[in-house]
Amino acid sequence: MSVSEPNPPAAEPVRKGLEGVVAGETSISDVDGQNCQLIYRGYSIEELAGKASYEEVSFLLFFDHLPSRSELADWIKQLESLRTLDPGLLEILKCLPQKSNAMAWLRSAISILGQLDSEEDEEALEVIQRKAIRTVAMLPCIAAAIGRLRAGKLVIEAKKGLSHAANFLYMLHGSEPTTEQATALDAYFVLLADHGFNASTFTARTILGTKSDYYSAIVGAIGSLKGPLHGAANRKAMEMLLEIGSPEQVVPYVQRTLEDHKRFMGFGHRVYKGEDPRAKQLKGVAKQLGETSGDPRWFEISENLQKAVWEAKKLYINVDFYSASLLHYVGIPTELFTTMFACARVAGWSAHVMEQARDNRLIRPLALYVGKRDLKFVPLNQRS
Ligand code: ACO
Repeated sequence: MSVSEPNPPAAEPVRKGLEGVVAGETSISDVDGQNCQLIYRGYSIEELAGKASYEEVSFLLFFDHLPSRSELADWIKQLESLRTLDPGLLEILKCLPQKSNAMAWLRSAISILGQLDSEEDEEALEVIQRKAIRTVAMLPCIAAAIGRLRAGKLVIEAKKGLSHAANFLYMLHGSEPTTEQATALDAYFVLLADHGFNASTFTARTILGTKSDYYSAIVGAIGSLKGPLHGAANRKAMEMLLEIGSPEQVVPYVQRTLEDHKRFMGFGHRVYKGEDPRAKQLKGVAKQLGETSGDPRWFEISENLQKAVWEAKKLYINVDFYSASLLHYVGIPTELFTTMFACARVAGWSAHVMEQARDNRLIRPLALYVGKRDLKFVPLNQRS
């Protein structure tokens, strides 16, 4: 047995993927897998969805109470004042490979944002909070700039007087969205704002736990979200809908996927034992968008696929499934989908990073060593 890293006692089984392990306390959100409930700071998401804006919910996650009217007005003003892209950042973004993964762009952008911040390594809580508020405000602006640059278009500046969601759509498309589009994206942002110790949030907390800086934590979180088993499942789910192409092709697609032993993207969840509570809300929004768009095909394919996968494999949908058609209907290019997830989740990441900073302990689990032991060193000239 190694001295520096004692093996866990035999009675403690190794939980692969940390499944079922309670790795810390939080008062930010509760993911109740048995009852399929999600709570943000005491409010169930059903209580907030369709009623609270992302501005209200991000304030709630940061400050542990819903804002009063004056607090909300100040918060909106503060976010609005922080939506100016640093010219230095923009210049560097323009040098990045145009068609590279949008999440790689975002990862680089936040890293640069950190380097351009003279307070990057400041540890004081109020400084971390200042960086966090700025990043929540900026992320959609950066995502929109990435969308424009990837498409070879000029970057558009933020417009005052628009909501967080509406402003993103304005910066991406160059025209103001309809109320329905802005409300739909706002609902998406609200529903994805936080989710316990998911992989990206846990990554952020682990990085902050070493007393590294806020930006490094967010860069790490973005890297984690980029994976198709986590945030990139929304993009993969849309690619799946596009490949299916029509409601009639759903059943053959399901058969092919089963035969090839591939996964259905947007299905399954580590924690929820039934349907992801966010999925039901997102489904309603996607359905509405499908009806008013005059092209309900993407919603219909999704609904047929949900049924077919349930019949074939008894798998429940997760948050990413109806996110796909929702984001498509509001005109977001598929390659940008995961950056939308980041725009929503940055409020949660930030709240968790601040919670970790307030009561920090280095996160450092053990590993059960299953490799070789007691090998004898053979000098190079005696090896083949
Ligand atoms: N499609 C097909 N089979 C699946 C799926 C799926 N989407 N999800 C789980 N399964 C099957 C697995 O094949 C496995 O079956 P087996 O035991 O016969 O091999 C069984 O269910 C358990 O799968 P695990 O991967 O061990 O379960 P885990 O809890 O680790 O997985 C995960 C959760 C990664 C989300 C998984 O369901 C998955 O890969 N889903 C597709 C990707 C996805 O949608 N990710 C987004 C998740 S939500 C989020 O992060 C925002």
